[in-house]
Amino acid sequence: MHGGAERAVLQVARARGLEPADLVRRAERDEQLRQDLVNHITVGTTWFMRERAALAELIGQLVDAKGPAGEVTLWSAGCSSGEEAYSLAMLARVAGLKPRVLATDVSTRSLRRAIEAVYPEDVLTSLPRGWAEEFFEPAANDRVRIAAAIRRDVVFEVHNLAHADGPPRGWQRFDAVVCRNVLMYFPKDKAVEVVRHLLRCCRGGGFLLLGPTERPLFWAQIEDESASASPVIEVDSQRRVRRKRPTRHPPSVQASPPPAEVADGALARRLIAASQLFKGGRHTDALAALRELAHEHPNSAPVHLEWGLCLKRMGRAREAVHELRVAAALDPVGWLVEYQLGTCLESIGEAAEARSAWAKALRRLESGARSGHILEQEDLAMLAETVARLCRMKLARG
Ligand SMILES: C[S@@+](CC[C@H](N)C(=O)[O-])C[C@H]1O[C@@H](n2cnc3c(N)ncnc32)[C@H](O)[C@@H]1O
Repeated sequence: MHGGAERAVLQVARARGLEPADLVRRAERDEQLRQDLVNHITVGTTWFMRERAALAELIGQLVDAKGPAGEVTLWSAGCSSGEEAYSLAMLARVAGLKPRVLATDVSTRSLRRAIEAVYPEDVLTSLPRGWAEEFFEPAANDRVRIAAAIRRDVVFEVHNLAHADGPPRGWQRFDAVVCRNVLMYFPKDKAVEVVRHLLRCCRGGGFLLLGPTERPLFWAQIEDESASASPVIEVDSQRRVRRKRPTRHPPSVQASPPPAEVADGALARRLIAASQLFKGGRHTDALAALRELAHEHPNSAPVHLEWGLCLKRMGRAREAVHELRVAAALDPVGWLVEYQLGTCLESIGEAAEARSAWAKALRRLESGARSGHILEQEDLAMLAETVARLCRMKLARG
């Protein structure tokens, strides 16, 4: 059994006063119990207008394809608590389109929150001007609710991408499918299979929008000769796949993630400031600052690494694993992120995966790979020696 699943079984078994083996036996017959386990395993980190440039590019392409006031059918696959689906609906409305959005997730707990559509008031700060008044209404306890008109644009359904072999029942092909930050938990072969399935769910001329961690799965499988990278993938009328050249925004990602570096001095300074907030005990402020940075730099591995480290230090290991996986996908040569991912995985009982992360970190260290981090080069060199020693020790433990 997968380590995360094992841990979820232990937690749910403890909560219900059952032996883990009994719980597993019962779960085979009991749908509700299975769902409780799924709700425990999944991580739903998300926010409104995540990777805003990619969403805007997609909507721009849809306007070009459909004309103003066109009707569009969109699917947010792995929608978590609904922010992505509502962002799509709002962007489409602002562009004059008439959206119909299907939003699916395997976690019923996340879907309940999505349908409720109530969020903390501070989500408004990251939205474009005027949206708060247009698309939100006040709710109790300093919270806000998505306005009814936008709620009506979105339909939520339970759906497991791992079992999917067609669009969700009752839905035909989509003008665009959006699947972001979902597939890093799938074994690679399965993830590639899901990407193929999602492509089949796009109508001819439709788009598939993937997240930074999903994109390499796509590029790994589908040949494409165009030189420029774009997050938007088009399915042409013969249902062949090609990347669409960006028309409005510069590409926000490379086909394969570049090695991570803190090249941008301003970004580095803000990362250091967030890390100092954390060290000064202002954990919530540090997390808020990192979240904002991730907003602005969704493809920056150092941002996700720092975020993961803060979560790890706060004991929020499962969320930390999520952020560190994002960082690892964005930084294919990083040793620090693999080392930290290993220790987090170990703390949540995923021993085999932890070993594989440490082995990767060690291979990279031994081959002299650098790692993008906010530390000075000298400190990083010392850290490299320590991390290599720790990896060897951990791997020798057998
Ligand atoms: C990190 S959230 C991403 C949310 C949103 N797409 C975004 O990018 O902000 C990942 C979501 O994928 C969902 N998920 C994980 N495995 C899934 C599966 N097999 N089928 C459908 N959804 C899944 C999780 O429940 C979680 O809500």
